[in-house]
Amino acid sequence: MKVNGTSYRSIWRDRNTNEVKVIDQRWLPHDFRIATLETLEEFSTAIREMCVRGAPLIGITAVYGMAKQMARDPSDTSVEESSTLLKATRPTGVNLRWALDRCENTLMPLDPDQRAAAALQLADQMADEDSETNRLVGVHGLEIIRRFAEKKADGEPVRILTHCNAGWIGGVDYGSAISPIYQAHDEGIPVHVWVDETRPRNQGALTCWELAGHGISHQYVADNAGGHLMQNGLVDFVIVGTDRTTSGGDVCNKIGTYLKALAAKDNNIPFYVALPSSTIDWAVDDGLAEIPIEERKEREVTHIWGKNGEGSIVEVQVTPDDTQACNPAFDVTPRRLIAGLITERGITEASPEGLAALFPELRGE
Ligand code: MRU
Repeated sequence: MKVNGTSYRSIWRDRNTNEVKVIDQRWLPHDFRIATLETLEEFSTAIREMCVRGAPLIGITAVYGMAKQMARDPSDTSVEESSTLLKATRPTGVNLRWALDRCENTLMPLDPDQRAAAALQLADQMADEDSETNRLVGVHGLEIIRRFAEKKADGEPVRILTHCNAGWIGGVDYGSAISPIYQAHDEGIPVHVWVDETRPRNQGALTCWELAGHGISHQYVADNAGGHLMQNGLVDFVIVGTDRTTSGGDVCNKIGTYLKALAAKDNNIPFYVALPSSTIDWAVDDGLAEIPIEERKEREVTHIWGKNGEGSIVEVQVTPDDTQACNPAFDVTPRRLIAGLITERGITEASPEGLAALFPELRGE
Protein backbone atom coordinates (compact mmCIF):
# COMPACT_ATOMS: atom_id res chain seq x y z
CA MET A 1 0.00 0.00 0.00
CA LYS A 2 1.07 3.61 -0.39
CA VAL A 3 2.80 5.83 2.14
CA ASN A 4 3.02 9.43 0.94
CA GLY A 5 2.59 8.24 -2.64
CA THR A 6 5.25 5.50 -2.51
CA SER A 7 4.27 1.80 -2.50
CA TYR A 8 5.49 -0.19 0.49
CA ARG A 9 5.06 -3.57 2.03
CA SER A 10 5.51 -3.94 5.78
CA ILE A 11 8.59 -6.13 5.17
CA TRP A 12 10.79 -6.48 2.11
CA ARG A 13 14.20 -7.57 0.93
CA ASP A 14 16.42 -5.06 -0.81
CA ARG A 15 17.29 -6.98 -3.99
CA ASN A 16 20.64 -5.20 -4.35
CA THR A 17 22.00 -5.50 -0.83
CA ASN A 18 19.89 -8.45 0.39
CA GLU A 19 19.07 -6.41 3.50
CA VAL A 20 15.73 -7.15 5.15
CA LYS A 21 13.79 -3.97 5.88
CA VAL A 22 10.67 -3.43 7.95
CA ILE A 23 8.50 -0.50 8.87
CA ASP A 24 9.26 0.05 12.56
CA GLN A 25 5.71 0.14 13.89
CA ARG A 26 6.71 1.35 17.34
CA TRP A 27 6.99 4.85 15.96
CA LEU A 28 3.72 4.92 14.05
CA PRO A 29 1.50 6.82 13.61
CA HIS A 30 3.79 9.77 14.39
CA ASP A 31 6.97 8.85 12.62
CA PHE A 32 7.59 6.66 9.57
CA ARG A 33 10.87 4.84 10.23
CA ILE A 34 12.40 1.93 8.41
CA ALA A 35 14.57 -0.56 10.29
CA THR A 36 17.08 -3.04 8.88
CA LEU A 37 17.15 -6.44 10.58
CA GLU A 38 20.30 -8.50 10.31
CA THR A 39 20.98 -10.89 13.18
CA LEU A 40 18.76 -13.55 14.70
CA GLU A 41 18.75 -11.51 17.89
CA GLU A 42 17.53 -8.43 16.00
CA PHE A 43 14.73 -10.42 14.38
CA SER A 44 13.56 -11.96 17.64
CA THR A 45 13.70 -8.62 19.45
CA ALA A 46 11.78 -6.93 16.61
CA ILE A 47 8.98 -9.48 17.02
CA ARG A 48 8.94 -9.47 20.82
CA GLU A 49 9.13 -5.67 21.14
CA MET A 50 6.53 -5.23 18.39
CA CYS A 51 8.64 -3.35 15.90
CA VAL A 52 6.74 -5.76 13.66
CA ARG A 53 3.38 -7.06 14.80
CA GLY A 54 0.20 -8.67 13.50
CA ALA A 55 0.06 -12.45 13.22
CA PRO A 56 0.79 -12.83 9.48
CA LEU A 57 3.67 -10.35 9.51
CA ILE A 58 5.28 -11.97 12.55
CA GLY A 59 5.42 -15.31 10.72
CA ILE A 60 7.02 -13.88 7.59
CA THR A 61 9.52 -11.87 9.62
CA ALA A 62 10.60 -15.01 11.44
CA VAL A 63 11.32 -16.80 8.15
CA TYR A 64 13.48 -13.90 6.98
CA GLY A 65 15.25 -14.18 10.35
CA MET A 66 15.92 -17.85 9.64
CA ALA A 67 17.30 -16.94 6.21
CA LYS A 68 19.75 -14.44 7.69
CA GLN A 69 20.80 -16.94 10.34
CA MET A 70 21.38 -19.66 7.72
CA ALA A 71 23.92 -17.38 6.04
CA ARG A 72 25.90 -17.44 9.29
CA ASP A 73 25.35 -20.97 10.50
CA PRO A 74 23.37 -23.43 8.38
CA SER A 75 23.89 -26.46 10.65
CA ASP A 76 21.05 -28.72 11.81
CA THR A 77 21.47 -27.39 15.34
CA SER A 78 21.21 -23.84 14.10
CA VAL A 79 17.96 -24.60 12.20
CA GLU A 80 16.40 -26.17 15.28
CA GLU A 81 17.64 -23.72 17.89
CA SER A 82 16.89 -20.61 15.82
CA SER A 83 13.39 -21.82 15.11
CA THR A 84 12.79 -22.58 18.78
CA LEU A 85 14.09 -19.15 19.79
CA LEU A 86 11.85 -17.37 17.27
CA LYS A 87 8.78 -19.43 18.19
CA ALA A 88 9.15 -18.34 21.82
CA THR A 89 8.94 -14.62 21.01
CA ARG A 90 5.14 -14.44 20.93
CA PRO A 91 3.06 -17.41 22.02
CA THR A 92 -0.53 -16.71 20.93
CA GLY A 93 -0.57 -16.19 17.16
CA VAL A 94 -0.20 -19.46 15.29
CA ASN A 95 1.28 -18.00 12.09
CA LEU A 96 4.66 -17.84 13.75
CA ARG A 97 4.71 -21.58 14.40
CA TRP A 98 3.11 -22.33 11.02
CA ALA A 99 5.73 -20.29 9.15
CA LEU A 100 8.67 -21.69 11.09
CA ASP A 101 7.47 -25.29 10.75
CA ARG A 102 7.24 -24.77 7.01
CA CYS A 103 10.71 -23.27 7.02
CA GLU A 104 12.20 -26.15 9.04
CA ASN A 105 10.51 -28.71 6.79
CA THR A 106 12.03 -27.01 3.76
CA LEU A 107 15.53 -26.65 5.18
CA MET A 108 16.19 -29.87 7.05
CA PRO A 109 16.28 -32.20 4.02
CA LEU A 110 18.79 -29.89 2.26
CA ASP A 111 22.56 -29.84 2.46
CA PRO A 112 23.62 -27.11 4.89
CA ASP A 113 25.31 -25.11 2.13
CA GLN A 114 22.00 -24.87 0.25
CA ARG A 115 20.01 -23.61 3.22
CA ALA A 116 20.70 -19.86 3.15
CA ALA A 117 19.54 -19.45 -0.44
CA ALA A 118 16.57 -21.77 0.06
CA ALA A 119 15.40 -19.94 3.19
CA LEU A 120 15.65 -16.57 1.47
CA GLN A 121 13.68 -17.86 -1.49
CA LEU A 122 11.07 -19.33 0.85
CA ALA A 123 10.74 -16.06 2.77
CA ASP A 124 10.20 -14.10 -0.47
CA GLN A 125 7.67 -16.67 -1.65
CA MET A 126 5.77 -16.64 1.65
CA ALA A 127 5.69 -12.84 1.64
CA ASP A 128 4.14 -12.88 -1.85
CA GLU A 129 1.67 -15.57 -0.83
CA ASP A 130 0.61 -13.63 2.26
CA SER A 131 0.00 -10.55 0.18
CA GLU A 132 -2.09 -12.42 -2.39
CA THR A 133 -4.02 -14.38 0.24
CA ASN A 134 -5.03 -11.23 2.04
CA ARG A 135 -6.02 -9.57 -1.22
CA LEU A 136 -8.39 -12.50 -1.77
CA VAL A 137 -9.75 -12.22 1.78
CA GLY A 138 -10.62 -8.67 0.77
CA VAL A 139 -12.32 -9.79 -2.44
CA HIS A 140 -14.66 -12.07 -0.46
CA GLY A 141 -15.20 -9.57 2.36
CA LEU A 142 -16.15 -6.97 -0.22
CA GLU A 143 -19.32 -9.00 -0.94
CA ILE A 144 -20.52 -8.25 2.58
CA ILE A 145 -19.89 -4.54 2.20
CA ARG A 146 -21.68 -4.53 -1.17
CA ARG A 147 -24.75 -6.15 0.42
CA PHE A 148 -24.94 -3.43 3.07
CA ALA A 149 -24.29 -0.71 0.51
CA GLU A 150 -27.27 -1.85 -1.59
CA LYS A 151 -29.60 -1.00 1.29
CA LYS A 152 -28.17 2.50 1.78
CA ALA A 153 -29.47 5.77 0.41
CA ASP A 154 -27.18 7.42 -2.15
CA GLY A 155 -23.93 8.56 -0.53
CA GLU A 156 -24.79 7.07 2.85
CA PRO A 157 -21.77 5.11 4.11
CA VAL A 158 -21.63 1.52 5.30
CA ARG A 159 -20.51 1.86 8.93
CA ILE A 160 -18.01 -0.70 10.09
CA LEU A 161 -16.40 -1.14 13.50
CA THR A 162 -12.97 -2.72 13.82
CA HIS A 163 -10.67 -3.57 16.70
CA CYS A 164 -6.86 -3.52 16.81
CA ASN A 165 -4.94 -3.27 13.54
CA ALA A 166 -5.70 -5.95 10.99
CA GLY A 167 -4.65 -3.69 8.16
CA TRP A 168 -1.81 -3.90 5.67
CA ILE A 169 0.93 -3.40 8.25
CA GLY A 170 -0.43 -6.38 10.25
CA GLY A 171 0.39 -8.59 7.29
CA VAL A 172 2.74 -8.11 4.37
CA ASP A 173 0.18 -6.05 2.42
CA TYR A 174 -3.62 -5.42 2.23
CA GLY A 175 -4.33 -6.75 5.73
CA SER A 176 -7.18 -9.07 6.64
CA ALA A 177 -10.07 -7.15 8.23
CA ILE A 178 -9.21 -3.91 6.44
CA SER A 179 -8.57 -5.53 3.06
CA PRO A 180 -12.30 -5.53 2.08
CA ILE A 181 -12.63 -1.95 3.28
CA TYR A 182 -9.81 -0.79 0.97
CA GLN A 183 -11.40 -2.64 -1.92
CA ALA A 184 -14.86 -1.18 -1.21
CA HIS A 185 -13.43 2.32 -1.08
CA ASP A 186 -11.52 1.73 -4.31
CA GLU A 187 -14.70 0.74 -6.10
CA GLY A 188 -16.48 3.85 -4.88
CA ILE A 189 -18.63 2.43 -2.06
CA PRO A 190 -18.85 5.00 0.75
CA VAL A 191 -17.61 3.50 4.02
CA HIS A 192 -17.04 4.91 7.48
CA VAL A 193 -14.88 3.03 9.95
CA TRP A 194 -15.18 3.21 13.73
CA VAL A 195 -11.68 2.42 14.94
CA ASP A 196 -11.34 1.09 18.49
CA GLU A 197 -8.32 2.63 20.19
CA THR A 198 -7.31 -0.86 21.42
CA ARG A 199 -5.59 -0.19 24.72
CA PRO A 200 -3.06 -0.84 26.00
CA ARG A 201 -0.89 -0.44 22.87
CA ASN A 202 -3.37 1.55 20.82
CA GLN A 203 -3.07 -0.38 17.59
CA GLY A 204 -6.22 1.50 16.55
CA ALA A 205 -3.96 4.51 15.95
CA LEU A 206 -2.10 2.40 13.38
CA THR A 207 -5.41 1.62 11.69
CA CYS A 208 -6.23 5.36 11.62
CA TRP A 209 -2.83 6.02 10.01
CA GLU A 210 -3.55 3.42 7.35
CA LEU A 211 -7.09 4.61 6.65
CA ALA A 212 -6.02 8.26 6.49
CA GLY A 213 -3.27 7.27 4.03
CA HIS A 214 -5.90 5.71 1.79
CA GLY A 215 -8.43 8.56 2.17
CA ILE A 216 -11.03 6.44 3.99
CA SER A 217 -13.49 8.12 6.35
CA HIS A 218 -12.97 7.02 9.95
CA GLN A 219 -13.20 8.03 13.60
CA TYR A 220 -11.12 6.82 16.53
CA VAL A 221 -13.24 5.72 19.47
CA ALA A 222 -12.46 4.74 23.04
CA ASP A 223 -12.65 1.00 23.52
CA ASN A 224 -15.69 1.44 25.70
CA ALA A 225 -17.70 3.28 23.04
CA GLY A 226 -18.50 0.30 20.81
CA GLY A 227 -21.54 -0.95 22.73
CA HIS A 228 -23.09 2.50 22.74
CA LEU A 229 -22.52 2.95 19.00
CA MET A 230 -24.14 -0.41 18.34
CA GLN A 231 -27.14 0.26 20.57
CA ASN A 232 -27.76 3.50 18.71
CA GLY A 233 -27.80 1.93 15.26
CA LEU A 234 -24.49 3.43 14.18
CA VAL A 235 -22.71 0.18 13.26
CA ASP A 236 -23.75 -2.03 10.33
CA PHE A 237 -21.27 -4.78 11.06
CA VAL A 238 -18.07 -5.51 12.96
CA ILE A 239 -14.97 -6.96 11.34
CA VAL A 240 -11.73 -7.99 13.04
CA GLY A 241 -8.65 -10.08 12.30
CA THR A 242 -7.41 -13.07 14.26
CA ASP A 243 -4.14 -14.39 15.63
CA ARG A 244 -5.33 -17.97 15.95
CA THR A 245 -8.52 -19.54 14.67
CA THR A 246 -9.36 -22.98 15.98
CA SER A 247 -10.48 -25.86 13.77
CA GLY A 248 -13.87 -25.46 15.47
CA GLY A 249 -14.17 -21.77 14.55
CA ASP A 250 -13.25 -19.99 17.79
CA VAL A 251 -11.14 -16.90 17.28
CA CYS A 252 -8.32 -15.55 19.42
CA ASN A 253 -7.64 -11.90 18.69
CA LYS A 254 -6.49 -8.74 20.45
CA ILE A 255 -7.79 -8.25 23.98
CA GLY A 256 -11.23 -6.63 23.91
CA THR A 257 -12.42 -8.41 20.78
CA TYR A 258 -14.68 -10.69 22.82
CA LEU A 259 -16.51 -7.76 24.40
CA LYS A 260 -17.24 -6.32 20.96
CA ALA A 261 -18.60 -9.67 19.83
CA LEU A 262 -20.89 -9.82 22.87
CA ALA A 263 -22.19 -6.33 22.24
CA ALA A 264 -22.71 -7.14 18.57
CA LYS A 265 -24.69 -10.27 19.44
CA ASP A 266 -26.89 -8.36 21.87
CA ASN A 267 -27.64 -5.80 19.18
CA ASN A 268 -28.16 -8.27 16.34
CA ILE A 269 -25.17 -6.86 14.46
CA PRO A 270 -23.08 -9.33 12.42
CA PHE A 271 -19.60 -9.91 13.78
CA TYR A 272 -17.19 -11.10 11.07
CA VAL A 273 -13.62 -12.31 11.32
CA ALA A 274 -11.28 -12.03 8.32
CA LEU A 275 -8.36 -14.41 8.12
CA PRO A 276 -5.76 -15.96 5.90
CA SER A 277 -5.88 -19.74 6.41
CA SER A 278 -2.38 -19.53 7.93
CA THR A 279 -4.09 -18.44 11.17
CA ILE A 280 -6.04 -21.68 11.50
CA ASP A 281 -4.67 -24.05 14.10
CA TRP A 282 -6.09 -27.39 12.98
CA ALA A 283 -4.79 -29.08 16.14
CA VAL A 284 -6.91 -26.94 18.47
CA ASP A 285 -10.70 -27.05 18.74
CA ASP A 286 -11.60 -25.21 21.96
CA GLY A 287 -9.93 -21.79 21.92
CA LEU A 288 -10.63 -20.93 25.52
CA ALA A 289 -9.20 -24.16 26.88
CA GLU A 290 -6.27 -24.59 24.54
CA ILE A 291 -4.80 -21.30 23.30
CA PRO A 292 -1.98 -19.78 25.40
CA ILE A 293 -2.67 -16.12 26.04
CA GLU A 294 0.38 -13.87 25.93
CA GLU A 295 0.92 -11.85 29.11
CA ARG A 296 2.80 -8.66 28.34
CA LYS A 297 4.56 -6.13 30.53
CA GLU A 298 2.57 -4.22 33.14
CA ARG A 299 4.17 -1.05 31.85
CA GLU A 300 2.11 -1.19 28.66
CA VAL A 301 -0.96 -0.62 30.85
CA THR A 302 0.41 1.77 33.46
CA HIS A 303 2.06 3.97 30.82
CA ILE A 304 1.12 5.29 27.41
CA TRP A 305 3.09 6.56 24.42
CA GLY A 306 2.15 9.60 22.38
CA LYS A 307 3.28 12.87 20.81
CA ASN A 308 3.60 15.85 23.13
CA GLY A 309 2.97 19.51 22.32
CA GLU A 310 6.56 19.95 21.09
CA GLY A 311 6.17 17.09 18.63
CA SER A 312 8.37 14.66 20.57
CA ILE A 313 7.26 11.07 21.06
CA VAL A 314 7.17 10.44 24.79
CA GLU A 315 5.93 7.94 27.31
CA VAL A 316 3.88 9.09 30.27
CA GLN A 317 2.63 7.32 33.36
CA VAL A 318 -1.15 6.99 33.69
CA THR A 319 -1.50 5.33 37.09
CA PRO A 320 -0.24 6.25 40.58
CA ASP A 321 3.36 5.20 41.30
CA ASP A 322 3.76 1.49 41.94
CA THR A 323 0.28 0.50 40.69
CA GLN A 324 0.26 -3.12 39.61
CA ALA A 325 -1.33 -4.03 36.31
CA CYS A 326 -2.46 -7.14 34.52
CA ASN A 327 -1.91 -7.27 30.77
CA PRO A 328 -3.35 -10.23 28.87
CA ALA A 329 -2.78 -9.39 25.20
CA PHE A 330 -5.49 -11.53 23.57
CA ASP A 331 -8.89 -13.01 24.27
CA VAL A 332 -11.03 -15.73 22.75
CA THR A 333 -14.30 -15.10 20.96
CA PRO A 334 -16.37 -18.28 20.88
CA ARG A 335 -17.77 -19.43 17.54
CA ARG A 336 -21.39 -18.85 18.64
CA LEU A 337 -20.80 -15.08 18.51
CA ILE A 338 -19.34 -15.06 14.99
CA ALA A 339 -21.51 -14.43 11.93
CA GLY A 340 -18.90 -15.68 9.47
CA LEU A 341 -15.24 -16.34 8.81
CA ILE A 342 -13.94 -14.55 5.71
CA THR A 343 -11.05 -16.47 4.17
CA GLU A 344 -9.13 -16.44 0.91
CA ARG A 345 -11.46 -19.19 -0.33
CA GLY A 346 -14.72 -17.55 0.62
CA ILE A 347 -16.94 -16.95 3.63
CA THR A 348 -17.99 -19.78 5.91
CA GLU A 349 -19.80 -20.23 9.19
CA ALA A 350 -17.58 -20.46 12.26
CA SER A 351 -17.85 -24.19 12.76
CA PRO A 352 -15.71 -27.32 12.28
CA GLU A 353 -17.82 -28.28 9.27
CA GLY A 354 -17.57 -24.83 7.70
CA LEU A 355 -13.78 -24.67 7.91
CA ALA A 356 -13.26 -28.29 6.90
CA ALA A 357 -15.44 -27.80 3.81
CA LEU A 358 -13.34 -24.82 2.67
CA PHE A 359 -9.97 -26.39 3.46
CA PRO A 360 -10.42 -30.16 3.16
CA GLU A 361 -6.74 -30.78 2.42
CA LEU A 362 -5.56 -28.87 5.52
CA ARG A 363 -7.93 -30.50 8.01
CA GLY A 364 -5.96 -32.79 10.29
CA GLU A 365 -2.68 -30.87 9.88
O1 MRU B 1 -0.35 -7.70 19.47
P1 MRU B 1 -0.52 -7.49 17.99
O2 MRU B 1 -0.56 -6.05 17.60
O3 MRU B 1 0.47 -8.28 17.18
O4 MRU B 1 -1.96 -8.10 17.70
C1 MRU B 1 -2.47 -8.05 16.39
C2 MRU B 1 -3.87 -8.49 16.29
O5 MRU B 1 -4.48 -8.90 17.26
C3 MRU B 1 -4.49 -8.49 14.93
O6 MRU B 1 -5.86 -8.25 15.02
C4 MRU B 1 -4.28 -9.85 14.25
O7 MRU B 1 -2.92 -10.22 14.28
C5 MRU B 1 -4.71 -9.85 12.84
S1 MRU B 1 -3.58 -8.86 11.84
C6 MRU B 1 -3.88 -9.21 10.23
